[in-house]
Amino acid sequence: MDANTLRRAFTAFFEERGHTSVDSASLIPHHPSAPLFTNSGMMQFVPYFLGEESAPWPRATSIQKCVRLSGKHNDLGELGRTRRHLTFFEMLGNWSFGDYFKEDAIGWAWALLTEHVGFDGDRLWVTVHVDDDEAEAIWHEGVGLPLERIQRLDKENFWEMGPTGPCGPDSEIHFDCGSEWGEEGGPAGGGDDRYIEFWNLVFMSYFRHTDGTLTDLPRHNIDTGGGLERWLMLLQGVPTVFDTDAVRPLIEVAESLSGTTYGADDRSDVALRVVADHARSMAFLVGDGVVPSNEDRGYVVRSVIRRAVTRGQQLGVDRPFLGALVRRTIELLGGAYPELTSGADVVVDTIEREEHRFRQTLATGSALLDVELARGAVAGEVAFKLHDTYGFPIEVTEEMAAERGVAVDRAGFDAAMATQRARGKESRRGGEADLPVEVYRRLAERAGATEFTGREEHETKARVLEVVQAGDGHLEIFLDRTPFYAESGGQVGDTGTITTDTGRAEVLDTTYALPGLHRHVARVVEGEILEGQEAVATIDDERRQAIRRNHTGTHLLHWALRQVLGDHVKQQGSLVGPDYLRFDFSHHGPLTAEELAEVERLANGRILDNEPVRAYQTTMEHARHVARRVMSFDSERQVMHFLREETRKIIPEAF
Ligand code: SER
Repeated sequence: MDANTLRRAFTAFFEERGHTSVDSASLIPHHPSAPLFTNSGMMQFVPYFLGEESAPWPRATSIQKCVRLSGKHNDLGELGRTRRHLTFFEMLGNWSFGDYFKEDAIGWAWALLTEHVGFDGDRLWVTVHVDDDEAEAIWHEGVGLPLERIQRLDKENFWEMGPTGPCGPDSEIHFDCGSEWGEEGGPAGGGDDRYIEFWNLVFMSYFRHTDGTLTDLPRHNIDTGGGLERWLMLLQGVPTVFDTDAVRPLIEVAESLSGTTYGADDRSDVALRVVADHARSMAFLVGDGVVPSNEDRGYVVRSVIRRAVTRGQQLGVDRPFLGALVRRTIELLGGAYPELTSGADVVVDTIEREEHRFRQTLATGSALLDVELARGAVAGEVAFKLHDTYGFPIEVTEEMAAERGVAVDRAGFDAAMATQRARGKESRRGGEADLPVEVYRRLAERAGATEFTGREEHETKARVLEVVQAGDGHLEIFLDRTPFYAESGGQVGDTGTITTDTGRAEVLDTTYALPGLHRHVARVVEGEILEGQEAVATIDDERRQAIRRNHTGTHLLHWALRQVLGDHVKQQGSLVGPDYLRFDFSHHGPLTAEELAEVERLANGRILDNEPVRAYQTTMEHARHVARRVMSFDSERQVMHFLREETRKIIPEAF
C-alpha cells in the first residue's frame, strides 16, 4: 500500500460513514489558544470543539500537514535516531463534533485497520487512560480484543494540544513489530521501537486553562490522529518511516547529491534522514508563508534550513543542494497538497537564498567550530560568535557538538547573548544620549503634553518652549501646541516649517521624544529660533494629504484582502508615507495573480465609491459651474445676484 492508496482508502472509509472530507489547513494556526505551528489535525477545528463556532458538519475527515518543531510537541531531539519520528508528517484523522463518541470511534478504527487496509489484528495492542473503564470495555467486549493486549496509562493517555486548549483522555493503537525490535511487555513496558504507536483516538472533552485547571467542553468530541508515514512503514514492512515511499525518494536524492549510501554508516544515515525530513518541513513551512528570519516562526524555519545545510556538509556536500531536494519534495507531495505546487517557485527561491546566505559564512564558522570540537569543549563566547557572526543557530551548534560527544557552554552563550542585548540597548540609548532624556522629562513635567492641533488646522500659532541641539547638527524644537503629526503606529511624521520673528526652520521629521511630547527635528534655514518666542508652525499640507490617502489605502487593502482571502487575514503592521505604503498581513501563502487582481479591483472600486470622494467631486463640479457663470456676467450686480442665489441653494439657513 503506497501513500496515495492509503490516503484514498482512509478518506473513502470515513466518507462512507457520513464524514465530510476537509482540506488540510495551513501550518500557521489561527486560533488564539494555538501554539506556533499546526502540530495535529484537530487544530483547524478548535473553534468547533470549544463551541465558539458551530461546526458546518457533524463529522469530518482530513489529512493534515503537521510540524512538530517547537513547544509541547517537538520531535527534533528524536529525529533521525529512531524509526518513527519526523518533524514534518501527515496526520490522518476523523472527527465528531458532538456527534458520535467512543463506541463508534473505536469500532470504526478497528474495522478500518483490520478489514480495509490490512493490519493483522493479532498484532495490535491498545492503551487507554487509567480511569477509562468505558474505553477498555468497548475494546474488550465490543471489539473482542483480549484484556492482555489492553494496557492502562496515565499522562501518556491524556492528549493536549499545548499548554492550553482542548484536551481529553485517549486510546492509542500500537503494532507489535516482533522480538527483533525490542523487549516484550506491550506498549506500557516494552520497547518503543517494537510497539509502534500509530493511531491516537482522543475523547476530546475538556479545556485546559492557562492556570492549569480543566473545565468541560460544551459537548463530547472525537479527535483521531494517525501518522501516515508510520502506517506506511508498518504496512510496507520497512524498518523506518524513511524507507516508505513518502520519504525514501528524498533519501535517494540526498544520497546522489552527496555520493553516500544509505545504510552504510550510522552517522551518515542520521544525516541523510535529517536532510530528507527537513526538506519536507522547510518546503511546507515556506509554502505556508513562513520566511526565514531571526524571530518566532521565521527563526524555526531558518534553523531547519541551516541544520539541513550543516548536515549536508557533514555528508560532504559543499555546494548548494536544497533546491533539488525541495523540488523533489514538491513533486512527491504536490498532488496531495496543490498549494505547494502553485507556490513552488517562491518556495524554492526563498530556500535557495537562505542556503546561499548561510553558505557565505559556513566554511569559516565550521573551521572555528572544528577547533573547539578538537579541543573537546565549545566555549560560550565561541558559540556566541558562531551565532552572531557566522549565523549558526545555537541549536545547530549544540547538535553538531553532541554528535561528537562535546559539550557546549550554554550558560556562557546565554551570558554573551545577554551582554549583547544590553549593549544594543545601551547604544540605542547612546544614540539618544546626545538627545538628553532628562531635558525631555523636565520639559514634560513643566509644560505637560504638546497640544496637537493638526486635526483641525495646518498652521498654528505656538510658543517655542525649548530648543535642543542634536548631535547631528539638527535642532529639536519643542512647542506648546503643534499641527505636526508625530510618527506613530506606522505612520510617518509631518514635515513643514517653524517661523519666528528672528528666523525660519525647516522641519524634517516629527517624532515623540516622550509619549505625548512632539519633537520637531529641524534645520535652521534663516536666522535663528529662540526659546520663548512666538512661532508659526506650518505643515507641508500636500504631503500630509498624501499620507492620509495612503493611510486610507491601508484600510481599503485590509478590507479587500479579507473579502478575497477570508477573515483570517489580519493586519500585522504597516508603514504609511506620502509616496508609498506597506501593509503587512498574515495569510498561509503567497497570493496568486488572480487574487491580487481581485484585491486591486475591489480596493479601487471602493475608492471611487467613497462617500467623501463623491462629495468632493460634486463640489468641484459645482465650483466650476459657478466660476464659468461668474466669468460670463457683465456687471457686478449680476455676479452678486447669482452668488446669492447659489448660496441660497447650498445654505438655505443663511437667509
Ligand atoms: N490530536 C491527537 C494527536 O495529535 C489525535 O489527533 O495525537
